[in-house]
Parts: sequence; structure tokens; C-alpha cells
Amino acid sequence: MALTTRLTERLGIEHPIISAPMAFAAGGRLASAVTAAGGLGLIGGWYGDGDWLEQEFREAGNARVGCGFITWSLAKAPHLLDRALAHRPRAVFFSFGDAAPFAGDVKAVGAALILQVQTLKDAKAALDLGADVVVAQGAEAGGHGERRATLTLVPEVADAIARGGYGTLLCAAGGIADGRGLAAALMLGADGAVVGSRLWASSEALVHRNMLDRAIAATGDDTVRQKVTDIARGYDWPERYDIRVVRNAYVDRWLGREEEMRAAGEGERQRYAAGVSAGDASIGAAICGEAAGLIHDVRPAGEIVAALVGQAESLLGRAGRFVRT
Ligand SMILES: Cc1cc2nc3c(=O)[nH]c(=O)nc-3n(C[C@H](O)[C@H](O)[C@H](O)COP(=O)(O)O)c2cc1C
Repeated sequence: MALTTRLTERLGIEHPIISAPMAFAAGGRLASAVTAAGGLGLIGGWYGDGDWLEQEFREAGNARVGCGFITWSLAKAPHLLDRALAHRPRAVFFSFGDAAPFAGDVKAVGAALILQVQTLKDAKAALDLGADVVVAQGAEAGGHGERRATLTLVPEVADAIARGGYGTLLCAAGGIADGRGLAAALMLGADGAVVGSRLWASSEALVHRNMLDRAIAATGDDTVRQKVTDIARGYDWPERYDIRVVRNAYVDRWLGREEEMRAAGEGERQRYAAGVSAGDASIGAAICGEAAGLIHDVRPAGEIVAALVGQAESLLGRAGRFVRT
């Protein structure tokens, strides 16, 4: 059986799963494992280190992987895109900012242009920009995002694509960690899913074991969207975005006192960085979404993809949808 959608056909992949380009966590090993498992693996380009990016493309070897950028950050160091494009990525994924200055270069090398959005308004802009794939990201997601929920944003964007007659494909992101979520995403009108948190908790991800243990012990209730983590890291994120993490003592200490924390300045940033280096999960953030409540172990990415697809196939097969025998 195969779960065939327009995404699998258009991208030439087996399963309608794209791994999120997770900053610091998604290197070449994870991306190539997801591609080998039949999905599309993406390397996280994070805040810009060209040498790291090239090293991770080399790590992925011959696997057909892509990469992602935090768009507002790439705008400060646009040459990084050329370094990525030199590796002939299968796709380039942009989120959190205006991708218009970069879209043409991505298309020129034949890579798929994937634009992640958090609102209907931005989805429309992405469609007009000529995205090959729009990713509608709900607030359940791990990492940065906004306020809309996956369950309503995905079908609203699907309707906008249909009404406008666009050939653009749609993926859902935010809270998809098992076959129920994947099946639901397809039923909402998506052609596939972007999976972050579940693959963050994989053997191939670049994540400290203590952070993984913290997320596995947590439920969705224990996660929170907040700005403390970015202030602690010294990142100047645009106001509209915050970041979902598993709560810990550090977040609890500063939540609601962000101005005071900013005023604490360099000392606080150093304390956070030292906690992260030491793998101290009471300080460093486990960057995982509400899916924390659905994640009970760390497994190889290939097994995670197979389990997601197997469960979705059986659910959708019963519904008589999408599954080809
Ligand atoms: C650890 C982590 C880091 C992330 N970093 C990025 C990033 O650098 N760029 C990006 O576009 N999205 C990033 N995201 C968000 C993902 O693109 C995606 O929307 C999200 O993971 C989907 O929700 P889920 O975590 O519930 O699967 C990150 C997510 C996680 C969990």
C-alpha cells in the first residue's frame, strides 16, 4: 500500500512527509534518514553559519535533501542562500519573513519553493509569490510560530488555493506526531505534513539526551509559547513570533518578567548558554510542541516515518481515501 498524494507525485517521494528544517536539531543525518525513509528531509539553516550548512549537506551525502531558512535572519546574510543552492537542494523552505527577495534564485536552480505561513493573509501572499508548496503552521507547533490553530488554518488555506485556482500544494504543520495527525491533515485538505517535534525526538537529531527526556516526560499541557528563550539566546525575533518549548524552571522564573530579563542583559545570556552547554534541562529549553504529549520514546527517523504512514494508511483506508493498493 502507498499513501499517494499530489505531494508525493510532484516531489517524486514515497510518503507525504517533510521533516521540518529545525534550527540546530535537523542536520544532514536526520534529513538524509527522512529522505531514505521515503519522505523529504530538510536541513535547518538556522541563524546562519555557512560552514555548518555545507558540512551538513556533505553529511547527507547523495541523499536528495533540501534546507530551510529563518527568512528574517537570512535577509541579514543573504549570501548563505547561494552556499545552500550550490548543493542543488531538492527544496528550500522559508518561514518567518518575506521570502520575495529569494524566491527567484530558488526557482532558477529547479528547487521546490516551500513557504511556511501562520496566517491566511500570509498564505495568500505566498500563493501570489509562486510557492510550490505552502505550509500552514498552527500554534501547536514546536519552535517559533503564531496564534492560529492547525485545525482551522489548514482548511481555510485549502479553500483559498481552490478558489484562486492555484496549482500550489498545501502541507499542514503543528501537532502532527502520529498517523492520526497525518490522516487528519489529509482530510483537512492538505497534500502532506511537515513534522517537527516527533522527528526532533529521533536518534538522528542533534539534541541533548536530557532535553529529549524532559519532552518525553511532559504532556502537551507542559508546553508554552513565550519569548524568554529568545531573550536568553540574544535573538532579536520580530514581535509577532514567539517560541513553544516545554516549561522548565528557567522559563517559569522569567515568564511575565521579560522586560526585567532584558535589563539583566549579558549575565543572563551567559547563564543560559552555560546551562545549555551543560545539558541542564532546568535551564536549557526542550524545543518541542504540544506533540510532547504524543511522544514517548526516541526512535530512528525511518521508524517514525513508517509508523506515521502505516497508521494513517490504515485509518484512511478504512475511510476509503488516498490509499492505493
Ligand atoms: C526544535 C525545533 C526547531 C525549529 N526550528 C525551525 C526553524 O529553524 N525554521 C523553521 O522554519 N521552522 C522551525 N521549526 C518549526 C517547524 O518548521 C514546524 O512548523 C513545526 O515543527 C511543526 O510542528 P510540530 O513541531 O508540532 O511538528 C522548529 C520546530 C522545532 C520543534
